[in-house]
Amino acid sequence: MDLSESLDVNVVQEIRQALLNHLVLVFRDQSLYPARLAEIGRYFGSLHINPFVSGTDGVKEVISIRSEENHEKRFTGLWHSDISWDALPSLGSMLYAVTLPDWGGDTLFSNMNLAYDTLSPGYKQLLEGLKAEHRVDRFHHSRAEFSDVSDPVMHPIVRTHPETNRKSLFVNEYFTSRLADMSEQESRPILDYLFAHSIRPDFTCRISWSLGTLVFWDNRCTQHYATNDYVGQSRLMHRVTITGDEPF
Ligand code: SIN
Repeated sequence: MDLSESLDVNVVQEIRQALLNHLVLVFRDQSLYPARLAEIGRYFGSLHINPFVSGTDGVKEVISIRSEENHEKRFTGLWHSDISWDALPSLGSMLYAVTLPDWGGDTLFSNMNLAYDTLSPGYKQLLEGLKAEHRVDRFHHSRAEFSDVSDPVMHPIVRTHPETNRKSLFVNEYFTSRLADMSEQESRPILDYLFAHSIRPDFTCRISWSLGTLVFWDNRCTQHYATNDYVGQSRLMHRVTITGDEPF
C-alpha cells in the first residue's frame, strides 16, 4: 500500500489488526516526509514527544536516529522497548529508512509473548505480581542530566496486552535496572536470566532495510535491537513513537 495517501478507516483497522496478529509489520517502497510520518502515526494514537531529542524538519514528534560515517557514539547496541522508562510506555513505533549503509544496519525484534509463554510454570509463579524499575539514565553516566526530566518508574514484569489480553515479559536490558524493593545487585540473577531468555533466536526476526522501508512494531510485546555492523558508513532513520497505556 501507499502510505503517502490518506488512509481509509477500514485500512487503518486492518493494519491495527495485523499489528496485533504479527507484532512487526514491514511496508516497502514508501516515500514519506517527516510531517506525513507523524500523520500516519496519529492514525494509531497520540504521539510521544521525546524530552531528550529534538524533532526533525520542524516536526517535533519525529526524531532522527542518525549514525554518521565517523560517529563513534551509535544509537544502537542494547535490546529495548521504546520509552519503557515512561509512566505511559509506547504502544508502538514507526521507523522509516532515509539513508542506509551498503550493508548491515538490520534491526532485530524479539517476541515477548513467546518469551513469557516458554517460561516454566514455576518461574511464571515467581514473577507473578513483581514489578521492576525502568529508568532512562540506566546507561548514561551523566544521570543528573536526566533526573530532572524523568523519574524512574515501576512497571509489572509480566504485563497483559490491553488489546489481545496476552501476557508478555516487560523488561529490557537498556532501561530495566532492578526489581521493586531490591537492590540492583540483588536483582541481577533474575533480570540477567530474563534478558538472556527474551532474546533467544527462536523468538526473534530480523528486518533488512531498503530505502523507503517503514517498519511498525508493537512495543508492548516486543523488544528490538539495532545492529552496529556498518562502521564507516552512515545511516539515518526517522521515528515516531505512539503513546500507550499504563502497563497492568
Ligand atoms: C530504535 O531503537 O528505535 C531504532 C532502531 C534502529 O535504528 O534500527
